[in-house]
Amino acid sequence: MLHTRIIVAKNAEEAGKLAADVFEAEIQKKPACVIGLATGSTPLPLYRELIAREKAGKIDFSRVRSANLDEYKGLEPTHEQSYRKFMQDNLLDHISIKPENTIVPLGKAEDPDKMCEDYEKKIEEWGGVDLQLLGIGHDGHIGFNEPEDYFPAMTHEVQLTDMTIDANKRFFDSIDDVPRAAFTMGIGTIMAAKKIVMIVTGADKKEILKKTFWGKVDPQVPASILQFHNDVTLICDEEAYPF
Ligand code: PGA
Repeated sequence: MLHTRIIVAKNAEEAGKLAADVFEAEIQKKPACVIGLATGSTPLPLYRELIAREKAGKIDFSRVRSANLDEYKGLEPTHEQSYRKFMQDNLLDHISIKPENTIVPLGKAEDPDKMCEDYEKKIEEWGGVDLQLLGIGHDGHIGFNEPEDYFPAMTHEVQLTDMTIDANKRFFDSIDDVPRAAFTMGIGTIMAAKKIVMIVTGADKKEILKKTFWGKVDPQVPASILQFHNDVTLICDEEAYPF
């Protein structure tokens, strides 16, 4: 652990509020900032808080741009389980962000390699991600960057591990409906963000959290690379905090 700032919240709700403080400060400082967004259960308290703060007049999303970490391969943006749909339902439809200023990798891309390249280009054209939100998988994945023997650089296609398929089956009718592949920002894309906030909540994440920030930097624990980023804020709750 070199530079990581650690905040231990009482519970997941409080973690969401503390993360919202970081987003509010960033948007105040730079109204047209680029935020990197994540799906999963972890960010939901944060998203609820961001919606409430815009309603209360504390945040203005009208000039903000957003880029999501990942998307399942093969799902239409309107598919009930697509990450695009998740983002619309849980955040984007409820704030003033302009639809054209939000990007999520295209699950149904005709030319996946080109879609991944274009995704990188768009982020670059926007001037890079100012503030990236991350959760973490039980295997240490960030986005859909699963344990590997190297750190993948750019947005690319990945095969999901059995652990991830199993963790995500709760959202589908059956495990057979969970897509086997996805598109994700690379570790290089994530590390290029100027500032990163990772939220980790729940006792089931304690072990991987310890490995990530207090273990060695290892592509088998993809999130461990965050030890080498100079502006990471880890917001975890008491259940997830390993000490
Ligand atoms: P979760 O997912 O927030 O639903 O636990 C996190 C992840 O897999 O990155």
